[in-house]
Amino acid sequence: MNTDEAIRKRRSVRKFQTKAIPHEDLLKILAAGIEAPSGKNRQPWRFVVVRGNGKKEMVEILKKGVEAEEDEEWKKWAMNSVNIMNDAPVSVLVFNKYGDRPWKEQSIEQRFQELVDVQSVGAAIENMALAATALGIGSLWICDVFIAYDELCAWGGQDNQLVAALTLGYSADDSTFRYRKNIDEFVKWRD
Ligand SMILES: Cc1cc2nc3c(=O)[nH]c(=O)nc-3n(C[C@H](O)[C@H](O)[C@H](O)COP(=O)(O)O)c2cc1C
Repeated sequence: MNTDEAIRKRRSVRKFQTKAIPHEDLLKILAAGIEAPSGKNRQPWRFVVVRGNGKKEMVEILKKGVEAEEDEEWKKWAMNSVNIMNDAPVSVLVFNKYGDRPWKEQSIEQRFQELVDVQSVGAAIENMALAATALGIGSLWICDVFIAYDELCAWGGQDNQLVAALTLGYSADDSTFRYRKNIDEFVKWRD
């Protein structure tokens, strides 16, 4: 599959088969992640790959986070994401090694550095999503994991910044079309 096909074929998958992902394919996906560019080549990404019993533990933590949440709207969306993570065989929790917890006060220099590092981590996530697509594996980029932020970091053995989860598995989702606005709405040309 060429780059253009992978970009266009990748769509968020929200229904997964239970079928396991071969370990070597997971390694290929992670290897694609670490090929991403990063500011000053700091390679700030860290991955915790969650499967099997780990998935059960992670889902329990997330469910507790959802229960404790007061915002009904977020609760609903987050529960939906947690159910998807429960169905999928693998989730990769993605951390920024140099990032702070979101509620920590930061200097301007720290905020700039964090902007750089979070972009790098985002590039790694997208690389992994595209590599998964090329292997016939679906993915969902999930930030609803923030519902149990500290608890998930502690459980993953990470004292740095949780950026997202990338949930992976074979798709059982037939909704492939996702609306995009016209390109003219995003682009300004300054010739
Ligand atoms: C940073 C980020 C966070 C996201 N968080 C969630 C999430 O928590 N739950 C979810 O179902 N989808 C999540 N998504 C998926 C988006 O909803 C999805 O990318 C968007 O609707 C466009 O659809 P597509 O990915 O199929 O093109 C997230 C995507 C990104 C890039």
